Amino acid sequence: MPGMTIHLRVWRQAGPNQPGRLVPYTAERVSPDMSFLEMLDVINEKLIASGQDPIAFDSDCREGICGACGLMINGVAHGPEPGTTTCQLHMRHFHDGDTITVEPWRSRAFPILKDLIVDRSALDRVIKAGGYISVNTGSAPEANAIPVSKPIAEQAFESAACIGCGACVAQCKNGSAVLFAGAKVSHLNVLPQGRVERYSRVVAMLDQHDEEGFGSCSNEGECEAVCPKEIKLSNIARMNREYIRARLAGVR
Ligand code: SF4
Ligand code: FES
Repeated sequence: MPGMTIHLRVWRQAGPNQPGRLVPYTAERVSPDMSFLEMLDVINEKLIASGQDPIAFDSDCREGICGACGLMINGVAHGPEPGTTTCQLHMRHFHDGDTITVEPWRSRAFPILKDLIVDRSALDRVIKAGGYISVNTGSAPEANAIPVSKPIAEQAFESAACIGCGACVAQCKNGSAVLFAGAKVSHLNVLPQGRVERYSRVVAMLDQHDEEGFGSCSNEGECEAVCPKEIKLSNIARMNREYIRARLAGVR
């Protein structure tokens, strides 16, 4: 089978604070079963063979679990398929002869390092501010020793599905990371083990969120629409309620 011909316009930028531009490439004999990243691998093999600098992009697991691989594909974070990371996006969702524009996440808090790679460590620093449990929980207890109701367990599990990819930030016109922060706060604050530090956690994480240069939420919903793990906006509402309770309780 001859496969598809795909035309690409890829953002190339030699380093941070360097000028960048969209560079045209053509990928030939693209199999519909290839992932988007495998298609970029093929282009890179050609670039390397001809002595050119390959396109820099991030990936690790290529299974939709690590969050490393985000790309802006035709202006949509992770591309056209809902609930799908870039590494799990297959070329069968495109057509022979398509032109696809590929750009990095563009957000003040995510400086571009090279080509399609951005520095997402601001998200790590939000976690570091409070996205953990520091109380001594002792050795691993018997699984049923702490009663957690099924709805609470399911809520925590849904929120814990966030892979920290940053697509929510990239798609938001405000560059807000509150869907990410909301998922991380919710995951811990709804569980009995996390409730001890619920107020200090939400205040510390939101303070760090703002300090990193992420913007405020204006209820656009773009984050939820592109989230590959379908994290719900209700996580933001829960975090905001926790924040107000914390302030009323005098936590600074
Ligand atoms: S909330 Fe969704 S889009 Fe945002 S970092 Fe988590 S998984 Fe990625
Ligand atoms: S490479 Fe890990 S989620 Fe895509």
